[in-house]
Amino acid sequence: MRVPVVDLARRAAALEPELSAAIARVVDRGVFLLGPETEAFEEEFAAYCGRRHAVAVASGAEALRLALRAMGVGPGDEVIVPALTAVPTAAAVVGAGATPVLVDVTADTAVLDPAAAAAAVTDRTRAVVPVHLYGRRAPLPALGLPVLEDAAQAHGATDPTAPSAAAAYSFYPTKNLGGIGDGGAVVTDDADLADLVRRLRNHDRGDDYDHALVTGNARLSEIEAAALRVGLRRLPADTARRREVAAAYRAAAPDLWWPPDDPHHVYHLCVTRVADREAWRAARPFDTGIHYSRALTHQTGYLPYVRAACPEAEAWAAETVSLPCFPEITDDEIEAVCRGLQ
Ligand SMILES: Cc1ncc(COP(=O)(O)O)c(C=O)c1O
Repeated sequence: MRVPVVDLARRAAALEPELSAAIARVVDRGVFLLGPETEAFEEEFAAYCGRRHAVAVASGAEALRLALRAMGVGPGDEVIVPALTAVPTAAAVVGAGATPVLVDVTADTAVLDPAAAAAAVTDRTRAVVPVHLYGRRAPLPALGLPVLEDAAQAHGATDPTAPSAAAAYSFYPTKNLGGIGDGGAVVTDDADLADLVRRLRNHDRGDDYDHALVTGNARLSEIEAAALRVGLRRLPADTARRREVAAAYRAAAPDLWWPPDDPHHVYHLCVTRVADREAWRAARPFDTGIHYSRALTHQTGYLPYVRAACPEAEAWAAETVSLPCFPEITDDEIEAVCRGLQ
């Protein structure tokens, strides 16, 4: 069997029997939303991130959108985002009513280029959203503007002392902390911001059924929260394994292109760059992925937001290759990939 890029069936099996027990506990209790599992998960995840508050929401995309709204971002505002990222980073800005400004990334690390971000600031810029892409800790541009970290791919990679307003996480099943469905969280030291996200995620339903804010439903289910608590207990060991995998590949193929090593990297994805990508992938005896094959500047829906080409993001999109990297990969499979890289 070819080594896959990721294997969620193995992941689910690795979480048993705790996963089934957690689901059964929720079913037996009969509390399915905004109950004790969500509360406990929020406390545990905030502690893991080294921040005071975590607010669980329905997805990473909603975490970004609601955090932006809670930060006061709205119509007429501009928000700087990197041009190489998962599309939801920019979609959340549009969802908050604002305009995403697409900015180039660095050639060596694929994260928002602080100098390019500084050059993109206008008198309408209200926030900056650096993305910790692939699990690499991105520098936070010091522009005197509120920063929302997109940490969807970076559980455990963020700096708990960094001066950001908040960080948005995704618990999409393939993420380093992945659920058994959709989920996300806004993590912050700011109690007011956390309270506002709590109101925004649940129709702003006050005790007396008055709804002061017009919002919607972005709740996380109790079953999901219970499953995430199981995954969170394994996350440090899972991250250590991902780092081992990446280190093995880098050591086995020193002549391949690699980004600079970083001890904070949590290797959501282990990527290399190859100029003749499709021929190279076709010759590998293992599976590979591409994250992402288009920069935002080449995404049809986002063309109206393009102000300038982003050559580094576009070069990454043309060359990036994701290698098999997941905690349950076996030693034999790692060896097979190492051989196939040579
Ligand atoms: C960088 C980034 N931001 C945002 C998201 C959105 O997360 P979700 O799919 O949970 O909405 C994802 C994942 O898809 C992501 O990788």
